[in-house]
Amino acid sequence: MAEKQLWSGRFAEGPSEMTLSFTSSLPVDTRLAWYDIVGSLAHARMLGEVGIIQKDESEILASGLKQLLTDLESGDLDLSPELEDVHTNMEHILTQRVGEAGKRLHTARSRNDQVSTDFRMFVRDAILETVTLLLDVQYELIDRAEKETGTIMPGFTHMQHAQPVSLGFHLMAHVFRLQRDAERFLDAYKRLNQCPLGAGALGGTGHPVDREMTSALLGFDRPTDNAMDTVSDRDFALEFAYDCAQAMVHLSSMGEELVLWTSPEFRFAEMPDAFATGSSIMPQKKNPDVAELVRGRSSIAIGNLMQLLTVMKGLPLSYNRDMQEDKGSAFSSYETLTSCLSMIGPMYRDLSFDRERMARACADGFLNATDLADHLVQRGMPFRQAHEVVGAAVQYCVKNGMRLESLSVEELKGFSDLLDQDSIDHISLEACLRRRTSAGGTAPERVKEQIASAKAIIDSHRSECNGEIVRLDEVWEELRK
Ligand code: ARG
Repeated sequence: MAEKQLWSGRFAEGPSEMTLSFTSSLPVDTRLAWYDIVGSLAHARMLGEVGIIQKDESEILASGLKQLLTDLESGDLDLSPELEDVHTNMEHILTQRVGEAGKRLHTARSRNDQVSTDFRMFVRDAILETVTLLLDVQYELIDRAEKETGTIMPGFTHMQHAQPVSLGFHLMAHVFRLQRDAERFLDAYKRLNQCPLGAGALGGTGHPVDREMTSALLGFDRPTDNAMDTVSDRDFALEFAYDCAQAMVHLSSMGEELVLWTSPEFRFAEMPDAFATGSSIMPQKKNPDVAELVRGRSSIAIGNLMQLLTVMKGLPLSYNRDMQEDKGSAFSSYETLTSCLSMIGPMYRDLSFDRERMARACADGFLNATDLADHLVQRGMPFRQAHEVVGAAVQYCVKNGMRLESLSVEELKGFSDLLDQDSIDHISLEACLRRRTSAGGTAPERVKEQIASAKAIIDSHRSECNGEIVRLDEVWEELRK
């Protein structure tokens, strides 16, 4: 026999089994159970404090809810699939346990403000966890970068050799990408940390609720402003999904890089065995599956963002049941990103780089051509003309299987009188690397500056994040007293 629904009074008959199972969100929103209980705890406290319900009833509710929380944490809470969602389940179990008082819990509340409160609290925690992992990956990368500020490798554009860079510089590029990701998450956090409770179904409530109180009890900065906007709003989930997708695009690019670097054509690095798998038929194979899956799973986060945008697009204001389809994607993006972050850091940490191979790769592809042109500019030639002259020298080298630095002084003079023996010293790869001293450049001292400034920002993100984690722990401790 199906459990009674929260809203059964208006109906002569219950919904069909098919309708119940079709409309249920329990398989997905069970994940919000913890947040649902703490949300109810704050609400019940407030109801008692302001006198909407009797103090003793509020206390009965609070102790029932605390027990629910303990049971949930120890895995002793069974939810009924016939009850449509996690909110209904919690209220039902509570009422079964505490009796009449349970029937007063939902006073001055709707599932519309309730679900938004629960979901925001989930995203809030998800952001703190995600940022923590992002910072860890940044640190793994910086650790490697610090040792490689003098390691020369080819820098690419269009996947063609472009200019020499250091491996440390290259790794730091990833760090700054991830830094923006962390900033985006922390920024979204500030916007989402407002409490929906008290918005009711859509228009607020006639009960004398204290929204500041519930907001503070749940660790929000303040209550939301407009009740109708509040129950309609899933911007926080969308921002989170975007931030996850953006970070996954960065991780995907790192995955791609690892696939390339560990391939026999590049051999810039050897994948640690712990992150590789073999082939069922080809005994020699060592495949970079983890890196490939990170790359592949970015599709999940991108798809989730599209799904969420599509759910919200065109909905009229206020709550619409379509919005029940908002959680699965957010949960999935969170799981995808956090699991990929947990793999990518250690993978870069344990990679063994083939520095010699990287240096040898720099021999081909005229990585020093720009420097030769710049050298002519220093000797007075306009850059556009210098570009032509070096282009002609490159063409000559290609035809004769030579490098710019192996041209004789006579050959050089053939291209421009301004060239001489010094020109050849000027374009050694080391010199090219060390010369790029513009702010943000690849010269070792510049990369060291980048490392220092990245570390300072990581530390400030870390303390912002840890500060919030500690603050929320205190909030929960206080609430459960
Ligand atoms: N399970 C619903 C959801 O996730 C809860 C809100 C239901 N509200 C309503 N008016 N039917 O969106």
